[in-house]
Amino acid sequence: MTFDLLHTDPETQARAGKIQTDHGSIETPIFMPVGTQATVKAVHQRELREDINPDIILGNTYHLYLRPHTDILKKAGGIHKFMNWDRNILTDSGGYQVYSLANNRKITEEGVKFKSHIDGSMHWFTPETVMQIERDIGADIIMAFDECTPYPCDYGYAKDSMHMTHRWLDRCMNALKEMPYTYDYSQSFFPIIQGSTYKDLRKQSAEYIAGVNADGNAIGGLSVGEPAEEMYAMTEVVTAVLPHEKPRYLMGVGTPINILENIALGIDMFDCVMPTRNARNGMLFTAHGTINIKNKKWEDDFSAIDEANYTWVDTEYSKAYLKHLFKVNEFLGRQIATIHNLGFYLWLVREARKHILAGDFKSWKNMMVKQMDKRL
Ligand code: GUN
Repeated sequence: MTFDLLHTDPETQARAGKIQTDHGSIETPIFMPVGTQATVKAVHQRELREDINPDIILGNTYHLYLRPHTDILKKAGGIHKFMNWDRNILTDSGGYQVYSLANNRKITEEGVKFKSHIDGSMHWFTPETVMQIERDIGADIIMAFDECTPYPCDYGYAKDSMHMTHRWLDRCMNALKEMPYTYDYSQSFFPIIQGSTYKDLRKQSAEYIAGVNADGNAIGGLSVGEPAEEMYAMTEVVTAVLPHEKPRYLMGVGTPINILENIALGIDMFDCVMPTRNARNGMLFTAHGTINIKNKKWEDDFSAIDEANYTWVDTEYSKAYLKHLFKVNEFLGRQIATIHNLGFYLWLVREARKHILAGDFKSWKNMMVKQMDKRL
């Protein structure tokens, strides 16, 4: 993998860059649609490719390990072939999903023992087994196995957990040294910074992670319920430490406003279930604020979903029609809303990139943040 840093905004820390892998290039800043189970929920691959058009999507180790399992993915020739997506894919390591299992998992130095949410069967994830699973799933970028701490988290726990995540990182890297690629293309590896909301721990973790000299660096343990200001403060602490010449990925973030603010702080990559999950609940993101399409006020509003026409659904259908589809619980409503939201998120990061390159990112960002902070 290579990363070309094309431009850094002199007024903020925002960056425009380009990642190149064996599955093509990724223009940064980028938002990566979440495709947990080898599908971006409610969107055909053709739609994703031709209209939403992201350079990279996400898959998830925990879910893909449980179903269809790596034996099937290996027989398919890897996840790209299995799901018919020939662009980039990144797999999260399962550190976050295991954390979400709360009462159904036990974390020890060796790894995590957890109970499947599907059939209650017991499984073991260790840094070594997770690396093999990520090799076999076959994404282009694979994430370290970490512990995502909850919010709030007491200092002692956050510190011990951060050190364990660092030890797990060493084990991941040692395991990868001995582990050939499963398929005929290479994989890049990103370690993950932890440290909860403590500046000294975040700084220490960023130094440790930067020190292992991986292909890119990620920030985890944020967007877990902390106020946005704390998230931004943590991003600031770690971007001051991370090398400029490698991509920086803020995991699980966030709202359109969170994304623009974190781009301004020097983040290059984002993922979040918000545009897809909220779409399925009838929430639409727009450049002028959010819409709850289930509200009665849209019942006889025959205007286009979004005149901006990020993707064709925006002008093909009216708000009143989409409201009706949600009211009668039709699948099509969830599909339209998902395509709209992903179209908007991808437009937003592309537009951010254009403004970084044009030199007016800061004023554009401030205008957008103000404009998007509304409920329509
Ligand atoms: N997704 C969002 N936050 C995290 C995190 O802290 N760790 C991992 N592995 N994935 C995440």
